[in-house]
Amino acid sequence: MNFFIETIGCQMNVNDSDKISDYLVNHGCLKTTDMAKADLVILNTCSVRFSAEHKAYSLLGRIKEHKDVNPNLIVGVVGCMAQHAYKEIKRRCKFVDFVLGAKNIDNFSQIIGKYVPFEYSFKKQTSENVFRYVTIMRGCSNFCSYCIVPFVRGPEISINCGEICDSVKQAVDSGVKEIILLGQNVNSYNDNGINFTKLLRQVSKIDNLKRIRFMTNHPKDFSEELIDEIAGNDKICRHIHLPMQSGSDNILKAMNRKYTYGQYKSLFERIKTKIPEINITSDVIIGFPGETERDFSDTFKASQDLKFGGLFIFKYSPRPNTSAYKLKDDVTLNVKKQRHTLLLEDSNEISKALNGRYIGKTVDVLVEKYENKVCEGRNSQNLKIFFDSDKNYTGEIVRVSVTRALANSLSGKMIL
Ligand code: 5AD
Ligand code: SF4
Repeated sequence: MNFFIETIGCQMNVNDSDKISDYLVNHGCLKTTDMAKADLVILNTCSVRFSAEHKAYSLLGRIKEHKDVNPNLIVGVVGCMAQHAYKEIKRRCKFVDFVLGAKNIDNFSQIIGKYVPFEYSFKKQTSENVFRYVTIMRGCSNFCSYCIVPFVRGPEISINCGEICDSVKQAVDSGVKEIILLGQNVNSYNDNGINFTKLLRQVSKIDNLKRIRFMTNHPKDFSEELIDEIAGNDKICRHIHLPMQSGSDNILKAMNRKYTYGQYKSLFERIKTKIPEINITSDVIIGFPGETERDFSDTFKASQDLKFGGLFIFKYSPRPNTSAYKLKDDVTLNVKKQRHTLLLEDSNEISKALNGRYIGKTVDVLVEKYENKVCEGRNSQNLKIFFDSDKNYTGEIVRVSVTRALANSLSGKMIL
């Protein structure tokens, strides 16, 4: 049986899709990248912005065309949108066989068993992956006023530290070199008193694990103890994704983020002082209800002042159930687009200039891919790096001298 899986959304979804794929492969299915050749199609959905839901429905339109040709095709919709728009999907897309929400993703094996009677289980395959995501927390209890996640993924739950370490050990035993710990706010991890810093210490003791990354962070819970741990622990990569969301105190308050811009900036500077080689990236939302020119200019100035290694800019999208949904979405789409373009152009210039500092320097690259005689990997700061090579170095950490820098990537020559 061939299966095709499409993933929309964040790393949590990528991780869930990886688990689904592993399960299917371990039960003798073959993954295909051609939907026309599939007997089973899975769409893993996101609902963080309206555009993600729109994309899911247009993909469902394409899937329906395949089902019209092949009525035996099994179609499953999973993930966040499957959680909160369950009824609407069922109503609008009668051809969908099953809908499984993000909260129940662990029941995938039971659900799929109803459609595909797997008779035997294959031996677990060894993963070729260089890095693996490991979920350390589910859900979120922060209720940022714009965000649908607490409604679709439920309250925050920390996974047992021992279980996490076992998953990491298993991954490392199968050849994985880098682990990415995932949670909506890893800084509030708490397993019976084991906080995130202690968890990092435990995970970093695992032999043969080369690199640890984690995401995402919430400035309100990012502790001094954590900064010190990162500074002193070589296995932890020099990259922190620290969503700011806005540079205006009025908007931050309306977003229920529980910090001011001054507090964010102070945290940012403390991290930079203790870990000078760190790359800090961020998210901002523009066009939140009530965002004035002044508020936007505060965000723009914050981006110029702090100089992020990368900035992800999202246009505000009203989400059902959230408290901001009751507010008037009063920044017009045109204004949102203008602000988006202005900030994007400026922040890309900043990131490119920061990356320019690597030119002439040597960086350690963990190679993830080899295609057309080009190796692709990342350095500790999470920058993508490309270099020409006659040999496939996938899974190895090699030294590369950087010759070129763009806003999101570097290229160079390997040093033998
Ligand atoms: N509208 C726009 N952007 C949003 N994000 C979360 N919810 C919304 C929304 N309703 C952004 C935040 C978050 C990122 C993953 O998505 O910036 O950090
Ligand atoms: Fe959403 Fe805020 Fe939770 Fe992040 S911390 S998932 S933005 S509610």
